[in-house]
Amino acid sequence: MAGFKRSTAVDSHRNGTRASFDAERHRKDFPILNEKIYGKPLVYLDNAATTQKPKPVIEALSRYYSAGNANIHRGIHYLSQKATDAYDDARTTIQQFLHARDSREIVFVRGATEGINLVAQSYGRNRLTPGDEIVITGLEHHSNIVPWQMLCQQTGARLRVAPVLDNGEVSLDAYEKLLNDRTKLVSIAHVSNALGTINPAKRMIQMAHRVGAPVLLDGAQSAPHLAVDLEDLDCDFFVFSGHKMFAPTGIGVLYGKLDLLEAMPPYQGGGDMISAVSFEKTTYNKVPFKFEAGTPHIAGVIGLGRAIDYVNQIGIDSIFAYEKELLAYATEALLKIPGLRIIGTAKEKASIISFVLADVHPHDIGTILDQEGVAIRAGHHCAMPLMERFKVPATARASFAFYNTKSEIDQLVKAIHSVLEVFG
Ligand code: ALA
Repeated sequence: MAGFKRSTAVDSHRNGTRASFDAERHRKDFPILNEKIYGKPLVYLDNAATTQKPKPVIEALSRYYSAGNANIHRGIHYLSQKATDAYDDARTTIQQFLHARDSREIVFVRGATEGINLVAQSYGRNRLTPGDEIVITGLEHHSNIVPWQMLCQQTGARLRVAPVLDNGEVSLDAYEKLLNDRTKLVSIAHVSNALGTINPAKRMIQMAHRVGAPVLLDGAQSAPHLAVDLEDLDCDFFVFSGHKMFAPTGIGVLYGKLDLLEAMPPYQGGGDMISAVSFEKTTYNKVPFKFEAGTPHIAGVIGLGRAIDYVNQIGIDSIFAYEKELLAYATEALLKIPGLRIIGTAKEKASIISFVLADVHPHDIGTILDQEGVAIRAGHHCAMPLMERFKVPATARASFAFYNTKSEIDQLVKAIHSVLEVFG
């Protein structure tokens, strides 16, 4: 992007050696970052909503459709075998990325939302009874609230919510007190999409396991930014969305421990999820195919595998270290703006900053920033109860990826000053 002179190379530790993080080099892989918005260079700071796609992912999609398109698991012809191999390889790539024990624990779904709904209906519906409890936190995205409310309506179970402290951290004392022998499921965000809080997931999972409750960890905002080691975390389910980690929309992953997935009934019926069908009786395919009815999003899966290869090439630990630096830089710069208040000041945060500015409505902030080419999200961030907790109708939210730079944060700050000029 023209006009940005500041160097973005930072040092980070990787395998004991100092490796340079060169965001400018990575930016070149993202064609959209050259776009102009209203004649101004695009400053894309809405990565928590969706990330941009690098050339290797775009090319993998184009290659699949131009030279490899066929249905999988059905044909014996060359192209079908090739597509099947690419699809299966991506499952292994994802298994390794998440440090899952077995590739059968990786189920392809449309996104984190579908993964949570699958667990609610397939795991929860037959197991929960009136009086049982599901524990979530006050930080959750609607996709980790509504499926559980629906399950509660269906089963008579009760939803319990661990409160959020003033700094945007979950009260662990209150969370622990909510856990008891009635707790049949716990579902928590790994990283808050609205505030950026990184929950102490391992500790929270251990607490839930002490009362025998399985835990779903919503990794929509963690998988793209920090190393996820499922063996170490020991959660029972984990979900994430491809489009938030440089892959296409419409593809995501549900991880489930093998014994749990094997014991769960299918979520949807159709082709590929069966082993034999007659009008009298159907037997189901093995895990994970039992949960993948119908022709899946083959191109999406291939694109997701390629996106993870791309992230691996850069290194997720280097990405985390660089984004942490962006967060610190942005936090310091934003706090100097008169009337600006950051909502969510947890000790551990991913690269997300929510803020309000005097009495300017966040939609007005978003609209004026847009005129300057700066893309942020303004609104309730699909976390209305959290907005209520902080007594704001909405916030403005800047969320960073590894292709963002400190110069772009300077652009953001400059654009916010122009908001102040308008609203005096
Ligand atoms: N969940 C997405 C966000 O936080 C859409 O913006």
